Amino acid sequence: MPVYPPEPFRIKEVESIRLIPPKAREAALKEAGYNLFAVKAEDIYIDLLTDSGTGAMSQEQWAAILRGDESYAGARSFYRLKTAVEDIFGFKYFVPAHQGRAAENILCACLVKPGQYVPSNMHFDTTDANIRARGGRPENLVIDEAFDPTILHPFKGNMDNAKLKAFIEKVGAVNIPFGMVTVTNNAGGGQPVSMENLKAIADVYHSNNIPFFIDAARYAENCFFIQLREPGYAHKSVKEIAHEMFALADGMTMSAKKDAIVNIGGLLCMNEGILFEKVKNELILREGFPTYGGLAGRDLEAMAVGLYEGLDETYLSYRLGQTAYLAARINEAGIPTIQPAGGHAVYLDAAATLPHIPQQEFPGQALSVELFREGAIRGVEIGSVMFAHPDLETGQVVYPKLELLRLAIPRRTYTQSHMDYVADTLAHIKTRAANVHGFRFTYTPELLRHFTARFEPLK
Ligand code: F0G
Repeated sequence: MPVYPPEPFRIKEVESIRLIPPKAREAALKEAGYNLFAVKAEDIYIDLLTDSGTGAMSQEQWAAILRGDESYAGARSFYRLKTAVEDIFGFKYFVPAHQGRAAENILCACLVKPGQYVPSNMHFDTTDANIRARGGRPENLVIDEAFDPTILHPFKGNMDNAKLKAFIEKVGAVNIPFGMVTVTNNAGGGQPVSMENLKAIADVYHSNNIPFFIDAARYAENCFFIQLREPGYAHKSVKEIAHEMFALADGMTMSAKKDAIVNIGGLLCMNEGILFEKVKNELILREGFPTYGGLAGRDLEAMAVGLYEGLDETYLSYRLGQTAYLAARINEAGIPTIQPAGGHAVYLDAAATLPHIPQQEFPGQALSVELFREGAIRGVEIGSVMFAHPDLETGQVVYPKLELLRLAIPRRTYTQSHMDYVADTLAHIKTRAANVHGFRFTYTPELLRHFTARFEPLK
């Protein structure tokens, strides 16, 4: 059992949470159409829906918020953020955006034309949808090991270079406006990508004249995994590793709601001047003037401070240790999770936990409902509800390889006893798993259906 690392902070402000009784949970589920996104947050006891924007800001961040310069153009707060972004990421140009998907939208609006392809190890859902919304086709080329939850690969987020080369050969480099990689690979278990792999990917993209963008939402966790696991990096600081990583790329999109530990914010960075001009015009149309990009001055300040706090190695060691502890306790209860534990979340193998529920009846969804029913805990399905889609040519439904329930851990928010409560609740569910049933849709929107779909239980 991994040791639970003492939190490298103490608490000076609290937010109350309460456990509503079983009857009220049942009513909440029914009212929400069995979609946890539609349950009121105050009815959730432990909220592991996402680690995005849900972390606790530090006293330094709150102090910075009071220094926010709310000038429309050229605010002091923008220049503070600019200094931090240049220091950490080193790209020539950047714009703030209100969150990660806004940065993705602007990048796709500027670069993706209908029928073009954008490869990655695995795109997250919003990236996937932003590429599709411009008529493009996202392609996931992660290594095969990523699809076997039991394999202990140190860098299970790696892209398969042979698959990437074959893909470029097949569709033609001219039909690829840019290539990506997601660090860490959220859609595939929060698994890191090695520096060796990043270098190889950059080589392939660049030898084909394809610009290389990193989805940097959890770059600091990824860099810490490199320090821990990759030969030659034990003595480099996480910041030095980040420098090496971003020097390989032509730009990045980032949701600052993760490793910059803010409640709202995003970044789009690039080295190319012509693209930057296009990006600014699109940004003004969709987000705001380039020195605030849809954020308040105070948000820019909190991000400038949070970017450095996210790189703190004592914090990162606690963060990864907390995730590893929760995963080990859940495994102890007999529930398999993606191995090894990722950075920001534990991914329960719902297909293995509920083997009697077929993919078309959504085992991940069933497990998420059960977790709320049993303990008012909220996770998120990452399986067929999120990713099953009709094939563009044949119309047949293509199911994802994994049916997962993700328990994402907000940063600096929950303690060891909360993690123990989650593991104990799952242990209870395990004892009655055979009686858990699947679901069918009663409503589905066209894009990103997991957010607003409704379900009914199958008996
Ligand atoms: N890229 C990755 C890898 C992400 O995990 C997310 C968001 C985004 C981009 C989009 O960023 O939310 O700021 O617009 N992931 C959240 C999650 C929603 O729960 O994993 P955003």
